[in-house]
Amino acid sequence: MIGLIFRKIFGSRNDREVKRLRPLVARINQIEQELQSQPESVLREKTAAWKARLSTIQDNDELKRELEALIPEAFAVVKNACRRLCGTDVEVRGHPIRWEMVPFDVQLIGGMGLHLGRIAEMATGEGKTLVGTMPVYLNALTGRGVHVVTVNDYLAARDSDWMGHVYTFLGLSVGCILHDQPPSVRREMYQCDITYGTNAEFGFDYLRDNGMATRKEEQVQRGHYFAIVDEVDSILIDEARTPLIISGPAVVSMDQKFVEFKPSVQRLVQAQQELCNRFLREAEALIPKLRPENGVPPKNAADLEQEIGMLLYRSKLGQPRSEGLMRVFEEPRNQQLVQRYEAQLLTDQSKKELYAQKEELFFAIEEKSHEADLTEKGRAHLSPNDPDAFVLPDLPTLYHQIDTSTELDAKGRMEAKGGIQAQFEEKAGVIHALSQLLKAYCLYERDVQYVVQDNKVIIVDEHTGRLMSGRRWSEGLHQAVEAKENVQIERETQTLATITIQNYFRLYTKLAGMTGTAETEAQEFFDIYKLGVLTIPTNRPNIRKDSNDTVYKTRREKYNAVLKELKELHAQGRPILVGTISVEASEMLSRMLKKEGIVHSVLNAKYHEQEAEIVARAGQKGSLTIATNMAGRGTDIKLGAGVAELGGLHVLCTERHESRRIDRQLRGRCSRQGDPGSSHFFISLEDDLMRLFGSERITKVMERMGLEEGQELEHPLLNRSIQTAQKRVEGHYFQQRKRTLEYDDVMNKQREVVYGFRNDIIHADDVRDRLMDIMEEVVLQKVEQFTHRDSEPGDWDIRGMADWVNLNFPLGMPEEEILKAARAGKVAPVEGSMFDGLSEAQFSVLNFISKSIRDSYELKVSFERIDALTNIERYTILDAIDRLWQEHLYGMDSLRNSIGLRAYGQRDPLIEYKAEAFKLFDALMVNIKSEICHNIFRSASSLMAFEQFLHNLPQTTTHETAAPFQDPASLAESSNLVSEANEVLSKAQPVHAVPRVGRNDVCPCGSGKKYKKCCGQ
Ligand SMILES: Nc1ncnc2c1ncn2[C@@H]1O[C@H](COP(=O)(O)OP(=O)(O)OP(=O)(O)O)[C@@H](O)[C@H]1O
Ligand SMILES: [Mg+2]
Repeated sequence: MIGLIFRKIFGSRNDREVKRLRPLVARINQIEQELQSQPESVLREKTAAWKARLSTIQDNDELKRELEALIPEAFAVVKNACRRLCGTDVEVRGHPIRWEMVPFDVQLIGGMGLHLGRIAEMATGEGKTLVGTMPVYLNALTGRGVHVVTVNDYLAARDSDWMGHVYTFLGLSVGCILHDQPPSVRREMYQCDITYGTNAEFGFDYLRDNGMATRKEEQVQRGHYFAIVDEVDSILIDEARTPLIISGPAVVSMDQKFVEFKPSVQRLVQAQQELCNRFLREAEALIPKLRPENGVPPKNAADLEQEIGMLLYRSKLGQPRSEGLMRVFEEPRNQQLVQRYEAQLLTDQSKKELYAQKEELFFAIEEKSHEADLTEKGRAHLSPNDPDAFVLPDLPTLYHQIDTSTELDAKGRMEAKGGIQAQFEEKAGVIHALSQLLKAYCLYERDVQYVVQDNKVIIVDEHTGRLMSGRRWSEGLHQAVEAKENVQIERETQTLATITIQNYFRLYTKLAGMTGTAETEAQEFFDIYKLGVLTIPTNRPNIRKDSNDTVYKTRREKYNAVLKELKELHAQGRPILVGTISVEASEMLSRMLKKEGIVHSVLNAKYHEQEAEIVARAGQKGSLTIATNMAGRGTDIKLGAGVAELGGLHVLCTERHESRRIDRQLRGRCSRQGDPGSSHFFISLEDDLMRLFGSERITKVMERMGLEEGQELEHPLLNRSIQTAQKRVEGHYFQQRKRTLEYDDVMNKQREVVYGFRNDIIHADDVRDRLMDIMEEVVLQKVEQFTHRDSEPGDWDIRGMADWVNLNFPLGMPEEEILKAARAGKVAPVEGSMFDGLSEAQFSVLNFISKSIRDSYELKVSFERIDALTNIERYTILDAIDRLWQEHLYGMDSLRNSIGLRAYGQRDPLIEYKAEAFKLFDALMVNIKSEICHNIFRSASSLMAFEQFLHNLPQTTTHETAAPFQDPASLAESSNLVSEANEVLSKAQPVHAVPRVGRNDVCPCGSGKKYKKCCGQ
């Protein structure tokens, strides 16, 4: 309240910011007016001159200053270009559209907000598409490429066509990335000054460029300077829940386990159902005693309440979606009993009673967090004879026992540990499969979370309601659902390259976004992307009438009321847009309307182009459109003739969405640009949102107002309670996304290192230098392993050293020579060099081995065709990186799964994950280098085959999960020649992270020469 008064007096920070930009608006308009009397060619000349100047600036800060100074003039040039286009017909997606737009003042402010790296929140219909052109133009003058990101291909194509007329009028080039374009076209598009496309296309191109391309020429992107993300909330928040993944078939698969355990899980689910129904019946028998007909509460009311609360709680924990339970919960007082009981359980710090209640069941279902947890009782049911069958062995304790055992020798200990490890993995796999199957049975409902079509399980997107063909739930869940539905269990895929949306967009030097709805997620935008929100006032006042929400007890009553309102307004001829939160709901409503004989259209965000056309007509008199909230987003709805007089478009929503933002988006479909319009939300206590996150308060309010069958409730207080429920869900998902990101941040650092390494190799002119550097690093590491600084060379493991050399290089180096070299060592390595710390003897051995390898390699080179050699060398390195990196990704996937299981202990899984991931990565880098080293002498013989193999590598990426490789065998074969040595080398010790001087680095002695030409000679 106080805040509100303050804001009234001083204006909010947002208002002040907007105000600060006003003088610039005046300046832009003044310059634009002057331009009106100039010839058209002036605009193009200015553009060319600016571009010539700005594209030479390297320094980011300088560029920033220059661009900021140019805002008024550049924006004025765009505005003037728009004015000159007015009245002409421009072609958009094959249709002529009359250009009638000259940016309004608020649009200029929005454009400046974008340039300053903010999220411009501008209501739907305010013309954000046009707003984007000004900052896009200004930043494109740098020649570094500006990306405009849209939510679907249709909008990318539409906007690049539509706004393209402004850019080309000014002499800039514009391109658009579409799903089915080949790399050559993509590269051309990225070469344009401005490139439109969806986040998935941009992200996948990045992954292909950095994780898969083997030559410069195969890379299509040219850096990440500035991106403007349209519908920024949809992309940076909703889509950001799932990472972009390019995948191929997995090496290991769990299909068998699902088939094997399905019958037992089915029996278990059945047993649980019977159990929960019993609890429910017991509760139902007690309820009349608590509330007798005569209205006099019994003496033992408190005990009864406790008992009923407990029984209902159990039933909810065991079978949250059962119909019987829903029926009992129709009575708000019953819900209250459970809520009270649950609160009581949670106050106990030790959670003893909570666990005890869980143990009454075979398994517990956490509907909110989507977890299914087997209990002792459940384990006993599944495997009566072996109670430990589903308990993970305690590795640390068992290892300790082995380590302290006196009976085993070194080899025996290794084997024993290996045995336990294998047992652990096997059991972890089984437990994981069981838990996924339980989820599949208890939390995933057919036609809600997924549909079954053509012998396939297809995910239904929970936010948009659209079918996500080709996308799969991860960690085996998809297969578990396939097992449940008796459809073909598809092979699990494994990640070949992946990045989260968050980390992709963090690559940009500058980022900005626009949407109608950002405010509610402002915190997340700031925390994750460092994006501030700037709310821009509307061009004309918004006159939409928003009714209070109307609440009903049951879904049935709600839909009856919905139908009533629809019929009334439809009879008046008012256009109506009905928003639903799922495909299921929109289809049900459609059936109801059909029965009534009312003509309508249904959109499920499946065919963007076609649906955009239907949505565009949703404002015509008498039209009735049912749409999931995502359908037609970004498409303009213009009111038909006579509609304004009737009150404009009415938006009717059949449910509150989990996120307030999505509701606001839906409301915003009407009353665009000052049009009249209205909106109304219908809610029932049976809606998931109310069931899962509705507070006790709502139940109380309902009770106080005494809600009867068929009655409805409506009150501003109620709106607030519902919003609180939504806020809770939003918070929950934010935490989830943050968690995903925290995990991906670990991966992100690794990805940066590996992609950096790859790019180094791809772009280096002389790969041989790098190759020899790597060789030397590995030799150094081996020298450190087999020899010792402080002991006499005679005591070293010279045999081990020689074996390693001869196994990897065609040198036939005798042990005596190594010893001889050691004894001849007189020179110590340079201080601060990568060899610092070696003794003279060690350093001499290192030089001797490195030189032998180098000489021998020179010899080999003399037989090769020099032009082909660079490519061979490049491939040798890339092949090792890619294969091992992919194996590593697989390992990281498994690590994440198993960490989830370990979380049963008291440890923080993220910390565990980080520690383990670090170890794995360390080992990966060692292995990559060792493998490269090993391959130096082996890669030339089959160049043709090798090159062909690499070129034929299919890189099909559809959406989040891509189609598998056509021929996985070819992948495996190519690596045969290197895998045996890798076995041996993989046991190598990790490289220590001491700063080291590379052969091509500046020499630490200060001579200014390269190390290899100076002290490293
Ligand atoms: N300056 C302008 N003058 C006249 N008409 C304009 C102007 N700017 C935008 N419009 C019109 O406003 C309508 C809405 O534009 P646009 O689709 O860009 O809005 P939006 O803000 O992106 O909406 P949404 O949030 O639905 O994506 C279009 O028909 C466009 O032609
Ligand atoms: Mg738009």
